[in-house]
Amino acid sequence: MVSPLPVKGSAPRHGDIWGARAADWAANEEQQLPTYEEALRRVRLSEGDAVLEVGCGSGVFLRLASDRGARVHGIDAAEALVALARQRVPEAGVRVGDLQFLPYEDDRFDLICGFNSFFFAADMVAALREAGRVAKPGGQVLIQVWGRPERCDLTAMKQAVFPLGPPPPPDAPAQLRLWEPGVLERAVMTAGLAPLDAFDLSYAFEHPDEATLVRLTLAPGLVVEAIRCSGEDAVREAIVESLAPYRRPDGSYSLENEWHFLVARA
Ligand SMILES: C[S@@+](CC[C@H](N)C(=O)[O-])C[C@H]1O[C@@H](n2cnc3c(N)ncnc32)[C@H](O)[C@@H]1O
Repeated sequence: MVSPLPVKGSAPRHGDIWGARAADWAANEEQQLPTYEEALRRVRLSEGDAVLEVGCGSGVFLRLASDRGARVHGIDAAEALVALARQRVPEAGVRVGDLQFLPYEDDRFDLICGFNSFFFAADMVAALREAGRVAKPGGQVLIQVWGRPERCDLTAMKQAVFPLGPPPPPDAPAQLRLWEPGVLERAVMTAGLAPLDAFDLSYAFEHPDEATLVRLTLAPGLVVEAIRCSGEDAVREAIVESLAPYRRPDGSYSLENEWHFLVARA
């Protein structure tokens, strides 16, 4: 059964902010290939598997999974990112929508991935339950979240920039410490899924110069909200100051971040 149309999802808010600087966000996504490679290594994709990415952004993971023989589908709140994903992966079925209210029938996909997306749902557990609904029985759901803050160079940027944004909407979900052992496991079990494999992965985003660092770091949705609230100059200054410790003598930047993953079975 396909879910009824959303009545109270987070897609209108996130579609607006994540689509605002779509091309620059897409350049960030292109730096995340180590995440996508490791995800596919862990889930052992088979030729012809039906794969859905929720919060698919500009489709970098969909491109990789399709090249590995999967039949790929994606959904994202941001129309501008969906347009880029359709260009990048013309053979994919990519739709605009809310990951908490999936427009797919029950038991359809072998694998559902949410790379840094499930926690943007109005109700993350409901979004995980929805992923379980559209997964085939025994299918896998892979979830990526931020790793331990002290192992993420971008923590400094988030601490400097997010206070420049608006206060969270009154109905925004509580921020859980999803990287802590057991927290994501409890969420997936509440959603009716069985945790299988938790792991961490660390790698660096590389930027050749300050201009590139700033352009790409101005693109994530929550940074766009801070720009709208406090102005681009204030946000730009906060980015450059907070990330100064990661600047090399030649002016390039290397930002190492840890990511936490859980694979669950439907
Ligand atoms: C951090 S980005 C991740 C994009 C991509 N998966 C990646 O690996 O970089 C979060 C994505 O989730 C999308 N998103 C946020 N809330 C959403 C919602 N309620 N429904 C669908 N997509 C949503 C945003 O538009 C954005 O593309």
